[in-house]
Amino acid sequence: MGRTQAVLDSSSSIGTIDRRIFGSFVEHLGRCVYTGIFEPDHPQADANGFRRDVLDLVRELGVTVIRYPGGNFVSSYRWEDGVGPVSARPARLDPAWRSLEPNTFGTDEFLRWCRVAGVEPMMAVNLGTRGVEEAADLLEYCNHPGGTALSDRRHANGAPEPYGVRLWCLGNEMDGPWQIGHRSAEQYGWLARTTAHAMRRIDPTVELVACGSSGRSMPTFGTWERTVLGFAFDHVDYISAHAYYEECDGDLASFLASGADMDAFIDGVTEAADEVAADRDSDKRIDIAFDEWNVWYLSRASSEERSGWQTAPRLIEDVYSVADAVVVGDLLITLLKHADRVRVACLAQLVNAIGPIMTEPGGRAWRQATFHPFSLTAREARGVSLRAEVSGPTLDTGRHGEVSTVNVAATVEPSRLAVFAVNRDVDNAHELEIDLSRVGRATGAKAVAIFDEDVHAVNTAEEPDRVVPRAIEAVSVEQGSIGLSLPPASWTMVTADIV
Ligand code: AHR
Repeated sequence: MGRTQAVLDSSSSIGTIDRRIFGSFVEHLGRCVYTGIFEPDHPQADANGFRRDVLDLVRELGVTVIRYPGGNFVSSYRWEDGVGPVSARPARLDPAWRSLEPNTFGTDEFLRWCRVAGVEPMMAVNLGTRGVEEAADLLEYCNHPGGTALSDRRHANGAPEPYGVRLWCLGNEMDGPWQIGHRSAEQYGWLARTTAHAMRRIDPTVELVACGSSGRSMPTFGTWERTVLGFAFDHVDYISAHAYYEECDGDLASFLASGADMDAFIDGVTEAADEVAADRDSDKRIDIAFDEWNVWYLSRASSEERSGWQTAPRLIEDVYSVADAVVVGDLLITLLKHADRVRVACLAQLVNAIGPIMTEPGGRAWRQATFHPFSLTAREARGVSLRAEVSGPTLDTGRHGEVSTVNVAATVEPSRLAVFAVNRDVDNAHELEIDLSRVGRATGAKAVAIFDEDVHAVNTAEEPDRVVPRAIEAVSVEQGSIGLSLPPASWTMVTADIV
C-alpha cells in the first residue's frame, strides 16, 4: 500500500473560494428543461409547472449558479419567442440539437425558477445567428426598471421588478466548427467587444464572459484566447473554458486522472490571459469561468439515432458510474486548487442530459452517482482553499503522463476543515496522512467516500441508491494529524473541527 502525506498550513492559501464555482447548467437540450425541471402535468408540479421533486434535489445538490439557455442551443435562439402569453409563442426548429422547441419555457420561466430554487442565473446571449442588438434587447428586458418598450413588456409579462441578472456569457463555443454561426477568433473577438460595450452602456453592473476554447485539444487553443482578449480585454471580466472527459478504450487509469488535464487547461488559459495583460501593461486580471465541465460519453452520443424533429427527445442521458463520480470529485478538487483564478464553474448539465439528476416523465426523480461528490463538496468546501504540500507516489498514465496517485484539496473556514482526496490507483488502497501541525488541533474527524467493488455500478430508477457515499470508520486523529486509508479508485471527503 502506498502512502501520501499532505501538509497543510493555514498561512499558505491559494485563494478565497468563490461559491459560484458550484454552478450548473440548464440548456434546452433533450429533457433538461421539458420533463426535467419543467413538467406542468407532473403530479409534483407547482403552479408554475416546476417539478417540486427536482427542485428539492437541486437544493440538496447545493448549486449556486445556473447557466441558461445554452450551450449550442443559444446560438440560434430567438429569446423573444420564449416570452409573453404561452399560447402565442411559436414552435421552432432547433438546428443545434435537431429538436422541436415549443418555447413554452423561456426567460421569465427560467428566472422565476431560479428564484424558487434559490440560485443565481447566468444568461447567455446568441452571438451565432444574432448580435449586438438582440443581446442589448435581452439585457434591457431583464434588467431595466421600466418606462421602455422592452422593460414594460417584462412588466406586462408579470415581472414588474427587474431581474438584476449579473452574469452574462457572450455566446457559446464560438471557436467550434459545430457551432451555429461559428466565427474566427478575430470576428468573434470584435463581436464580443462591441456586444460587451453596448451591454455595459445599458447596465454597467453586468459581469461578462467571453468565449474561450471549447476544449484544450482544440487546434486554436491558446491563440484563440490571446486573439479574443486582444480585442475584448478591456470589456470583459472572464474567459470561459469547457472540458468533458470519458473512459476510453477501457483505460480507467487515464480516466481517473482527468483532473491532470483540467489542471493543465486552467494553467494554459491563465497564461494566455496574463500575456495579454502584460502586453498592455495592465493590472487587470481576467478570471476563468469554467462554465461547462463534466464526464460525458461523447463517443456514445454520436451513435444516438433519431428520426424526425421531436420535442424533448432522450438525448445524451448518460448513466453515471462509481468511476464517473470519482472523476467528478477529482475535477472539483482541481477547481478548488485553482480557487485564485476560477471564479465561476458549471457542471454541465443539471437534469437528464449528462445531469446529476434524472427524471422519468410523470414519474420519479433520482440522484446519479455523480450527484454525491458534487453535493458534499458544495456543502463543505468553504472559506479559503489551502495550498497542500503533497508528497507520495505517482502513476504513469497513457493519456496524461505521470500524475500524483492521490490528488488532494483542502479548505478551511476559521474552525471547519474539509479535505478532499481522490485515489487514482485502480488496484490498490493508499494511506493518506494529513499533517495539521500548522493549522490547529482536529476534533470530531469524519470521512465519507465513494468507492465500490464494481467501479461501473450505477444508480437507476429501480435502484436509485445503489451508489451512495459510505462512511470510512477507521480515521485516526493524533496530535497534529489525521490518517486514513483511501480505497482503490475512490473519492473521499474528510471533515473536522479545528480548535
Ligand atoms: O453540454 C452539452 C454541449 O456541450 C453544449 O451545448 C455545448 O456548449 C458543448 O459542446
